[in-house]
Amino acid sequence: MGCPSRVLQTRAELSDLVRIVADSCHSFSLALARSDPPPLQPAPPRKAGSRGFFSLRSATWLSVISASMAGDGGGRIDAELERLLRAAAPLWSAEAELVEAYFSGPTRTQAHDLLWLERQCYKELVDGVEPRLRALHDGLDELGDPDRRAGALVDADELEEELRHLDLFLAAHQAVAGTDATPLDVARLRREGGWPENDALREARARHRRDHGRLGQLAEAATEGGCCTLYAAGMQLPIQNAADELIVAANRTVYVDEVRHMRLDKIGERGLTSADWSVLTDLVAEQLRLRVDMRDAQFSHPLDEERVAELRAGGAAIRVDILERIGLTADQAGRVATSST
Ligand SMILES: [Fe+2]
Ligand SMILES: [Fe+2]
Repeated sequence: MGCPSRVLQTRAELSDLVRIVADSCHSFSLALARSDPPPLQPAPPRKAGSRGFFSLRSATWLSVISASMAGDGGGRIDAELERLLRAAAPLWSAEAELVEAYFSGPTRTQAHDLLWLERQCYKELVDGVEPRLRALHDGLDELGDPDRRAGALVDADELEEELRHLDLFLAAHQAVAGTDATPLDVARLRREGGWPENDALREARARHRRDHGRLGQLAEAATEGGCCTLYAAGMQLPIQNAADELIVAANRTVYVDEVRHMRLDKIGERGLTSADWSVLTDLVAEQLRLRVDMRDAQFSHPLDEERVAELRAGGAAIRVDILERIGLTADQAGRVATSST
């Protein structure tokens, strides 16, 4: 059966689709795109019981952290979550270092801007839009079940957001290329826009889902968007021209949405065993290591190879601001950062 994303041949058609989906999803992404920089807290969880794209109830790191603090008046996060964060945080910091080096260093050229934006469009389309479209399409026969309907609404909401991300990055790409340049061919991008490091990440995620079921889904949800490191850096880019303005606007909108997409179910309430936590931590770390390579290639290798090897090995200092982004207090984030050394 045909996947609806095959209709996305031009930006005009894409814009029509965005509008249709946006109307039916009550989205507020557009308003956010025009507003001041967003708060660093995730949006509230959606309706209880809804099951979305990954068959997980939509929730956020914040709820995981709250659940893991239950019963502890001292505000300490539990040891297993802390171990997971100690594994993840240096790799999130690594991704931040890479993209920040690109935006502030000599690697940034017009040609390299076009490359990273094209690859970001590919990710929005193939890793963001397409799986949600497929989930909605494949679930049509199950919409008699109220729980599945609620999940479909979550998927539709996120689908609109991912389409919006694609639209915004396409606009930024066009601005960098110049208004007279031929627009990116979205159909070709979908077929040929991948790159080996991103393929490796997608393959690892598929293997994790296949071999570890729910733990693989949780790992993917936890690593989606790389803790918004690219979007946080991109939305703070000093604006020097009209193209920069669109790059900043795109990253700002995506930042708001992706904080929420880094959802995890309330794993503290789902009774993960110690062995589960240990597997989950390994899966998250493997995916985040692959994300370092993926961003390194997307941004045309802005650091030298030795530093990238260090970063991939978890050698970056943990950045407290990134941990605060997922809902930790300054104290909790500081504790995770210092106990890792
Ligand atoms: Fe996205
Ligand atoms: Fe996303």
